Amino acid sequence: MLSQRLQEKLHQRQEEGNLRRLSLSTAQHDFFSNDYLGLANNQELRQIIDEKYHQLADRRIGATGSRLLSGNSSYAIRLEQKLAKIFRGEAALLFNSGYNANSALISCISQKGDVILFDELIHASLREGYRLSFANRYSFMHNDLEDLEKKLQAHQHAPVVFVIIESVYSMDGDNCILKEMLELCQKYNAYPILDEAHSTGIIGEGGCGLACELGLEQLCFARIYTFGKAIGSHGACVVGSQILINYLINFARSFIFSTAAPLHNLVSIESAFDYIKQFPDLQADLKSRINFYNVYIQQVQVNSSNLKVYFEAASNNLSPIQIIKISGNENCKKLANCMIDKGFEIRAILSPTVKAGEERLRICLHNFNKEQEIKDLIDNLYQ
Ligand SMILES: Cc1ncc(COP(=O)(O)O)c(C=O)c1O
Repeated sequence: MLSQRLQEKLHQRQEEGNLRRLSLSTAQHDFFSNDYLGLANNQELRQIIDEKYHQLADRRIGATGSRLLSGNSSYAIRLEQKLAKIFRGEAALLFNSGYNANSALISCISQKGDVILFDELIHASLREGYRLSFANRYSFMHNDLEDLEKKLQAHQHAPVVFVIIESVYSMDGDNCILKEMLELCQKYNAYPILDEAHSTGIIGEGGCGLACELGLEQLCFARIYTFGKAIGSHGACVVGSQILINYLINFARSFIFSTAAPLHNLVSIESAFDYIKQFPDLQADLKSRINFYNVYIQQVQVNSSNLKVYFEAASNNLSPIQIIKISGNENCKKLANCMIDKGFEIRAILSPTVKAGEERLRICLHNFNKEQEIKDLIDNLYQ
């Protein structure tokens, strides 16, 4: 009975052209990983991490328990202090992933009667948080100050209003209009929660992210930084007041009831931040690749205006996440597969992950992508 139900659901996905499958990467050009600075494959960094790890006296393979039991370490405490400094907050708390941090933070911080306002394009992990909470929740249109203000006005008598935004939106790759959003929150005494997953490491001094780069960090109630993307490792931290961190230690379920990260993971995170600080060219090279992509794709679009180009490139975006909208799951998947066959790893983002009609190719740029490689990618897309 149950198997049949599961099978029917899978069949429905197949029919809609959006069945997910695990696959191994075979293509030679990486335009799909979140390893924006190439740190996950950086041999020099790997050596630094290995040496640092082997110098530690206590090298347990696993943490052996949650942080509240046997899994705590002086290394984790020191790393949190260092992260709080990097991200210019009072305190920081490590989580095992961005997903865990987001779902735990949003679900435990809000109570019945509170209101959560969220940008319609926020990540699934933040949505998981409001689904698990007892607060009322409403979306506002993407990056739309007017719509947010309308909703802030409508709910100004709620005990607490949270506003959830991202620095760089993971599906569109565009930046949040952060200053204006935070000022609006301030005007209505709302509490902004900012997910910096796709800006951690790549924006600001030492990879401190968008809020710190703009000097706006004090306007945020909580900020989430993740280490599985530009940091090349795994994990996340929440940064905020000491009261917030003490609260999370007591109420964030994924923190309390899950085994802490192994020491090697913590060494990797710390070393990556040191490495980014030591080599600012990592960020500069990424910026130059993003500029190159934008200039070249615009040239190609102009030159191919007489051709039947059936997709719309949303270019001129300054993040490493670039998208090309191609309506319809089948059309989008077809072009992605064709590019994979030619050796370019790019991924189709299909509905229901994005709205129907908003399907897109998602292209992630890295500092290690050569200009010629980017040219070849674009030329092949427009062929
Ligand atoms: C905006 C955003 N937040 C959080 C996450 C989850 O982070 P992690 O991969 O560390 O679980 C992602 C992952 O893609 C993301 O894009």
